[in-house]
Amino acid sequence: MKPISKKKKRIRWVAAILFVLCAGFCYWSNNSIQITNYTYISEEVPEGFDGYTIVQLSDLHNKKFLNDNASLLKKVKALQPDLIVLTGDIVDNSHHTNIDKAVLFTNQVQQIAQTYYITGNHEVSLKRKEYLDFIKRMKAGGVVYLKDEIVHLKSESGETISLIGLADDSLLSPKLEEIMRGEPEEGLSVLLAHEPQYINFYAETGVDIVFSGHAHGGQFRIPFLHRGLYAPDQGLFPTLTEGSVTRDSTTMYISRGLGNSAFPQRLMNRPEIVCVRLSCS
Ligand SMILES: [Fe+2]
Repeated sequence: MKPISKKKKRIRWVAAILFVLCAGFCYWSNNSIQITNYTYISEEVPEGFDGYTIVQLSDLHNKKFLNDNASLLKKVKALQPDLIVLTGDIVDNSHHTNIDKAVLFTNQVQQIAQTYYITGNHEVSLKRKEYLDFIKRMKAGGVVYLKDEIVHLKSESGETISLIGLADDSLLSPKLEEIMRGEPEEGLSVLLAHEPQYINFYAETGVDIVFSGHAHGGQFRIPFLHRGLYAPDQGLFPTLTEGSVTRDSTTMYISRGLGNSAFPQRLMNRPEIVCVRLSCS
């Protein structure tokens, strides 16, 4: 057998190191959770809600961070949320659907703070039996499912803010208007709506804050352009994939989400927890 030359050996070493670095970077991209903090300042925020902390988790897609999401839950707990909102696609409906795993997660989150949930496109397309099983068990754990509903959250001093949940298969603007009919124009309103591309519909109703997800940050984020590569319902180079966006008097926070669906890899697009603190001044 011919001995391997020094040059070939060196090339093999370099290839092996590059492979390990690449694999490490891919793992880091999918598993290193980033917390994005925002402060929402408005006169509409009642004094009793000054400093109120809302943590948003979206698009988990049945992903697990370490054992039973330990690392994710630890980060959520450390933020000391007053309220947790789950904005859809907690269950995946492509190739790794797991209702047990999703229910365990929602139960764990509910133990940290009162949690409200809306469906994403993946839950609404589950088999009927799976969907009903998930909703029933999640609600049994204490999570509140807002299916085209509005609730009023009360501060200790008795002030309220409105929390609206829009199911993902709703007819958007007409449905939203219907839900909000009779609501006073003043006062802070927070909408949970899975899909960000309907921002104009949401803004038309005059809601103050929207939490959405769905776009997964555009899957691969393009450095310097600050844009994602692709998002469902927005196509190539989508514009509504992360960050906060303002339309008229509406501020929308778009979560990059936590997991993946059909395509298993994120790049330059770490899983994200969104944390919004309300401030009245
Ligand atoms: Fe999703």
